[in-house]
Amino acid sequence: MNKFQLKEDIYYVGVNDAERRIFDALIPLPDGTTYNSYIIKGSEKVAMIDAADPAKKNILLSNLDNLKLGKIDYIISHHGEQDHSGAIPDVLEKFPMAKVLTNSKCKAELMDLLHIEEDKFIVVGDGQEVSLGNKTLKFIFTPWVHWPETFVTYLVQDKIIFTCDFLGSHYGFEPSEGLFVSDNEKIINPAKRYFAEIMSPFRTNIRKNLEKIKDLDIDIVAPSHGPLYRGAGFITDCYFQWSCEDVKNEVLIAYVSMHGSTDKIVDYFTVSLKNRGINVKSFDLAEADIGEIAMALMDCATAVIGSPTVLAGPHPSAVFAAYLVKALRPKLKYLSVIGSYGWGGKMVEQLAGLLGSLNAEIIEPVLVKGYPREADFKSLDILAENIMKKHKESGLF
Ligand code: FEO
Repeated sequence: MNKFQLKEDIYYVGVNDAERRIFDALIPLPDGTTYNSYIIKGSEKVAMIDAADPAKKNILLSNLDNLKLGKIDYIISHHGEQDHSGAIPDVLEKFPMAKVLTNSKCKAELMDLLHIEEDKFIVVGDGQEVSLGNKTLKFIFTPWVHWPETFVTYLVQDKIIFTCDFLGSHYGFEPSEGLFVSDNEKIINPAKRYFAEIMSPFRTNIRKNLEKIKDLDIDIVAPSHGPLYRGAGFITDCYFQWSCEDVKNEVLIAYVSMHGSTDKIVDYFTVSLKNRGINVKSFDLAEADIGEIAMALMDCATAVIGSPTVLAGPHPSAVFAAYLVKALRPKLKYLSVIGSYGWGGKMVEQLAGLLGSLNAEIIEPVLVKGYPREADFKSLDILAENIMKKHKESGLF
């Protein structure tokens, strides 16, 4: 077997994008990423599993050239997002007889996003099998990972599950140096960050999808981002744990300060919480990595946004943080706001309005005029005390 082979007649043709530093113009990629694509050569048909980001299409096409394929019969498209589907039109141009096998939702997306003609598609259903001759593809629908159309493919005879985004990680690796995770400790943080940023809002669906694949006999997990896994145990155990609804005795503070008042408030409040036995993770929004915030949100029972008042409202960085918290739909039980103002405004009301749709109880905020005084520190102690009581009521101590 060559170094790009998973098993006999199954090849990795994906692309390493280790230098990429941002995804969706939003998500930091400290470790880069990969767009994994695979070729399965059956005795009668050849199938390709997903494609790559269009920015890297030339490498994907060159990898296909290296295999000297006479044909591709099927391109399995698990997910419409362009980092996997964007190069499909280029593969179709090179292999004009190929058909795109996907479900009806993904077909509609690919027609809209990539303008692929309708006659290029074969629509498959949940549980359907397609024979490549001596190899059988079984499609298993796993919706909302993190789009509605997502599904996975189980290669029956070889016991390989191709999972696209599901069970992946944004972790660039050089495929010629090894396709598989060699050290679980190295991949756990990138995999958790990826889960926090992308999968966490859909954790109910993730749990259902894990149930759907749990009885499969799996030798290899082959996602479309990050290295592959030998056996499914490690990464599915992580996903079971990350998608559960448990929270910890922990407070996340995401704050921004302009002239030092909010800084002082956060410093005092942090000590006050810690003195009450509560773990605190604080993030200065002027420099924070949103992936780190997303990971902290997976665990904490309470989130507190800290902001000064700017133009009579919250600082824009605090608005961003509140929007992010809302979008990630964390398991939070409690929320609050702390911060400062100089001459007035509606900072607390506006932040509370942004966060109000979350299913979390808002604990009485603390707003300080100017630089904090003794009475303000007492108010912060009361807030810390209230959070401690709530955590105790929730059985977190
Ligand atoms: Fe890796 Fe949702 O695309």
